[in-house]
Amino acid sequence: MKTKLQAIVGAEHVLTGEEAAPYLIDWRKRYVGKALAVVRPANTEEVAQVVKLCYDNDIPIVTVGGNTGMCGAATPDDSGTAVMISTGRLNRIREIDTANDTITVEAGYVLQNLQEAAREAGRLFPLSLAAEGSCTIGGNLATNAGGTQVLRYGNTRDLALGLEVVTAQGEIWHGLRGLRKNNTGYDLRDLYIGSEGTLGIITAATLKLYPLPVAQRTAMLAFNNLTDAVTMLSRARAGFGAALTGFEVMAGDVLKAVVECFPDQRLPFESESRDAPWFALLELSDSESAEHAQARFEEVLGQAIEDGVVIDAAIAESVSQSKALWHLRESIPLTEAGMGKSVKHDISVPISRIAEFVETTNAILQAQFPGVKNIVFGHLGDGNLHYNVGASPEHSDDEFLAQQSAVYKIVHDRVHEFGGSISAEHGIGQMKVEEMPRYKDPVELALMWSIKDALDPKGLMNPGKVLLR
Ligand code: FAD
Ligand code: MLT
Ligand code: ZN
Repeated sequence: MKTKLQAIVGAEHVLTGEEAAPYLIDWRKRYVGKALAVVRPANTEEVAQVVKLCYDNDIPIVTVGGNTGMCGAATPDDSGTAVMISTGRLNRIREIDTANDTITVEAGYVLQNLQEAAREAGRLFPLSLAAEGSCTIGGNLATNAGGTQVLRYGNTRDLALGLEVVTAQGEIWHGLRGLRKNNTGYDLRDLYIGSEGTLGIITAATLKLYPLPVAQRTAMLAFNNLTDAVTMLSRARAGFGAALTGFEVMAGDVLKAVVECFPDQRLPFESESRDAPWFALLELSDSESAEHAQARFEEVLGQAIEDGVVIDAAIAESVSQSKALWHLRESIPLTEAGMGKSVKHDISVPISRIAEFVETTNAILQAQFPGVKNIVFGHLGDGNLHYNVGASPEHSDDEFLAQQSAVYKIVHDRVHEFGGSISAEHGIGQMKVEEMPRYKDPVELALMWSIKDALDPKGLMNPGKVLLR
């Protein structure tokens, strides 16, 4: 098999042993697998040939982009039977069409490079997340990644117009259309988006571009409670309309942990509002002028402070101050990784019920696992919280992780009760695959299986992820 793979992609692009090792462990270091080899095809035709070879020989395939996923979706099982396909060499821009406001890029293109290419063309590609320096557009599409601007521009799905896909049988679907309207039957594009490599391999995509904002204003706001943060979100929506491009929430403890972990960073408050229990990072992107942005900001924030909804506001006075505020928020995942092993949840509930959800779930968790740490932050504007739970000081991380399924059950049962989702943006992967039968509608699950069986009849695409028989 190795020789046949080498014949397709070249010997130096078939990795085994030490060279393959970084691909066999996930970003959170929670899953470790084995693989026959990691192959690095240079183009779509090579991907198709590798997939065909695997299909003919009944070899499972695990696709990997930047390996920043949060659910172990890009990590193979420990059987050592899978071939991993890395998209790292599919890294070309195929076309920028500014008149159509679209860009066509290959799947291994790194998100940050894509943002920069768009900017150089005088456009915005709005997908933004802390892993943007290494995650790939293929991985973003395969997980339907969210990030910090979903409240204005939507998830990755909303940014995609067309796809090129290598099917599970090794055929190429040429679906790279830059169309905003196309009602010609079933939407295959939307099936592949969010399928976490379980239906086929995305090799390129045509994506939407937007105008660059003329001026931006950023502030960190302090709150007495989460309900006030939700009230502020609603005021900001009303006051800023489509110009509201960010509303990220974080518990006070989480922000303090960031500055402890990264001493070069500082909280933007001098007064007692440093000890506020909740903070939010708010961003306004104005299409008129800096003066217009400032006037709107002052009006909405001034009123909120006067009404006691916001207890304090640190407003960035320069681009570098704005970056420093965002850096605090974006340092949370690394801080959390350094705090030990937590039980991670990526939940969404209707925004109107989010404060009640947190209060109820905190109380139940504390009753059952006294002293556990709540590590809560996320995308309040989307009703999406990373409601993570760490061990109490009395227990080691491993003792606490032994209770993971009990913690999941408490949190996910509440999510279900509140009409929410157990995966808002990270996906299912292998981490939450066993939760699917409990919370998915049985008819929905059966339909998902029909799709899986139709598009991947041999069950070779990323087995054990998303769906488990
Ligand atoms: P990988 O991790 O390599 O793969 C993820 C999944 O996609 C796997 O199932 C893999 O098989 C599949 N896949 C990858 N490429 C392809 C392809 N070309 N075709 C088919 N399947 C493919 N996620 C959010 O939604 N919002 C956030 O704000 C966010 N922030 C993050 C911050 C940090 C610091 C980190 C480490 C992760 C964050 N993530 C976030 C999680 C993650 O989902 C994203 O980083 C990203 O979408 C994954 O892209 P990747 O290229 O690393 O994919
Ligand atoms: C984030 O919002 O920072 C990401 O989704 C990553 C995480 O949850 O740790
Ligand atoms: Zn997130």
